Amino acid sequence: MRISVIGCGYLGAVHAACMASLGHQVIGLDVDEAKVASLNSGVPPFYEPGFAELLDEQLAGGRLEFTTDPGRIAQAQIHFIAVGTPQLAGRYAADLSYVRAAVQTLIENVDTSKGPAVIAGKSTVPVGTARHIQDLCDESGNDLIVVWNPEFLREGFAVTDTVHPDRIVYGLPDDQDRAEVGRKLLDECYAELLATGIPRLLTNHPTAELVKVAANSFLATKISFINAMAQLCDATGGDVTQLAEAIGYDDRIGKKFLRAGVGFGGGCLPKDIRAFMARAGELGVDEALTFLREVDAINLRQRDKAVEMASNLLGGRFVGHKVAVLGAAFKPNSDDLRDSPALEVAQQIWSRGADLVITDPAAADALRSKLPNLNVVGTVAEAVAGADVVLLLTEWQEYRDLDPVELRAMVRTPNIIDGRNVLDPQRWLDAGWTYRGMGRLAGPAAARAQV
Ligand code: UDX
Repeated sequence: MRISVIGCGYLGAVHAACMASLGHQVIGLDVDEAKVASLNSGVPPFYEPGFAELLDEQLAGGRLEFTTDPGRIAQAQIHFIAVGTPQLAGRYAADLSYVRAAVQTLIENVDTSKGPAVIAGKSTVPVGTARHIQDLCDESGNDLIVVWNPEFLREGFAVTDTVHPDRIVYGLPDDQDRAEVGRKLLDECYAELLATGIPRLLTNHPTAELVKVAANSFLATKISFINAMAQLCDATGGDVTQLAEAIGYDDRIGKKFLRAGVGFGGGCLPKDIRAFMARAGELGVDEALTFLREVDAINLRQRDKAVEMASNLLGGRFVGHKVAVLGAAFKPNSDDLRDSPALEVAQQIWSRGADLVITDPAAADALRSKLPNLNVVGTVAEAVAGADVVLLLTEWQEYRDLDPVELRAMVRTPNIIDGRNVLDPQRWLDAGWTYRGMGRLAGPAAARAQV
């Protein structure tokens, strides 16, 4: 099939390459010339495991191309919208300007004279957007059928998640005939995936839009739930990692997404729960989602808690102390700094006067250009040299594997804050460190904690 993908960030570029790998002829459209040039030369403009190889393969195969010229998308049968919907400055609501621009581009450039085309919406949007886009297309006189087809990919697993999704959702228009045409075209597009038995759910527009924000809200709630339990563990001498394991054996609860720590960040969960609250307010059902305010608040408190832990270990004063932060990205296997808990903790500590050094295996370059004031170094050894406290805030495998004995010889004072609860406390205590986890006291502190 001939396919276009509008917006070539993490979502769109990966989606475009994956669609080409399914045998389709794909054109990716973006307004950013540098990004398009980089993608066309096989260089991913972001860090995503497996993407560079896939991009190379599909460019070489001649089925994939990126362009800034909207005229090139005219003949595609399916147009995926994969532009960003970031949080509006100073507000909870999502910024839909990129979605609006994408729809306008489609209306002005798509040629439906030989038959209908599908707009498949992948971006996370406020419920009601798909119907609105359908109305705009109808008013324009183009035979465009809007199907909302949310994407559930995780950064770091974007390629695998796109070609092996848990489920595929089509939010179809209310008109039955058009819904049928839309379903058939998308079924043809995903034929290879559907043949493997991946569940495909047919819904209306609002359900499909809600599925995406509901899924992200549930995941955010799970993380904040376990972080709330971590606070209880801290107050009582409990261990939240054991608690999570014990409740996780109940398969109604499950073990996934119960890792306590400095909390969730990234380009999706934080802004999606806020946009969902804002939309509920507009719809007059804000009370239904007030719990998400608490989910957000618990999450942000974990960041403050990590800062306070560091402060306590330094006797209440950052000035005159060297602090090493390991990890800046919002999670491992990503260079994404958007709403990163690690970065916010580092910035807070830096602004309170510490001599702060930060490192990250993938995000160091992005960090240097985003925050030139921070002291960014390339290795753990440089970061921890002479440190008074080390904070592990993004759980890269190489940080999980650190040897506490070797590291002990490099620091000035052996204080470690395990902001992701991924270290073995006993090993660090045995090597002479003072260890603090999140909801996971260790050593003398645990013994002293009173219920
Ligand atoms: C998320 C959703 O998982 C994905 O389905 C959706 O399409 C986009 O948003 P992503 O933002 O890539 O994906 O990250 P995810 O792996 O979900 O992690 C989000 C954040 O939660 C990270 O900061 C991670 O460190 C944190 N997290 C995750 C926890 O703090 N504890 C956990 O148990 C799990």
